[in-house]
Amino acid sequence: MAITKADFEYVAQLARSQAAIVLEPGKEYLVENRLGSLAQREGFPTLEAFIGKMRSEKIINGLHHKTIDALTTNETLFFRDFNPFEALRKTILPKFIETRGASRQLTVWSAACSTGQEPYSLAMLIREKFPQLNDWRITILATDLSPTVLRVAGEGSYSQFEVNRGLPAVYLVKYFSKQNDRWVIKDEIKKMVQFKPMNLIEPWPMMPPCDLVFIRNVMIYFDVETKKSILKKIRACMLPHSFLFLGTAETTLNLDPAFVSETVDKAAVYRLT
Ligand SMILES: C[S@@+](CC[C@H](N)C(=O)[O-])C[C@H]1O[C@@H](n2cnc3c(N)ncnc32)[C@H](O)[C@@H]1O
Repeated sequence: MAITKADFEYVAQLARSQAAIVLEPGKEYLVENRLGSLAQREGFPTLEAFIGKMRSEKIINGLHHKTIDALTTNETLFFRDFNPFEALRKTILPKFIETRGASRQLTVWSAACSTGQEPYSLAMLIREKFPQLNDWRITILATDLSPTVLRVAGEGSYSQFEVNRGLPAVYLVKYFSKQNDRWVIKDEIKKMVQFKPMNLIEPWPMMPPCDLVFIRNVMIYFDVETKKSILKKIRACMLPHSFLFLGTAETTLNLDPAFVSETVDKAAVYRLT
């Protein structure tokens, strides 16, 4: 049965207030698909009964959190967009190696990391191409709002379809082992990445100063005010000379004048003025 207007508005308001996710009218099909199966798994006879239960609750509880989790879009792939990783390999990491020899530290943040392909791509690139970083303190912090994707990311277990998307064969052979029909990332890469839950619209008191911030393909789901406030918080945790990477459909332009866009190799990167 189609979702009622009032139920859709309730869900849209929940997603917006708890995760900044904007669900415009027209996205009813998405809510019906994703929450319909959640309602079933939770033992409700209909989507209406499931939403009715949430609406009757005074405080945000487990059902609301599962709803928000189910409404996230988790599309990702290894070495997504290719150019940012080439810019790191050719220019940015060699420059860090030249200028950071004294501290021998590098902190990378993959925000909204989904099922882990992005932080694992960064870890494999560092391991494969920069043996001189082996004795540096490399921190790769990977965060997401959704406990479901973080569980998958922590397991580091991928289907054939997932490893076929963007992962060079040489990395697959070297850094994954085949377990039944799954490809599991080896411990030497897995232990380079720390996964943590984090909602980008909440305060970030624990964020360390970062050299590289990847926050790609998540702000497209947010409204302008939320993008501005997130960019302001990102600024506060970027070290001088650090780099921000956004998705190809994202920009800081008209949102935060503290950032300037540069092209490094073929990748658009953002730096603090
Ligand atoms: C499309 S995926 C992007 C994954 C990866 N960054 C990439 O570019 O391939 C978007 C991710 O943002 C996460 N997300 C959505 N809203 C969020 C929020 N308010 N705080 C943190 N993560 C959020 C979702 O759970 C989802 O995994």
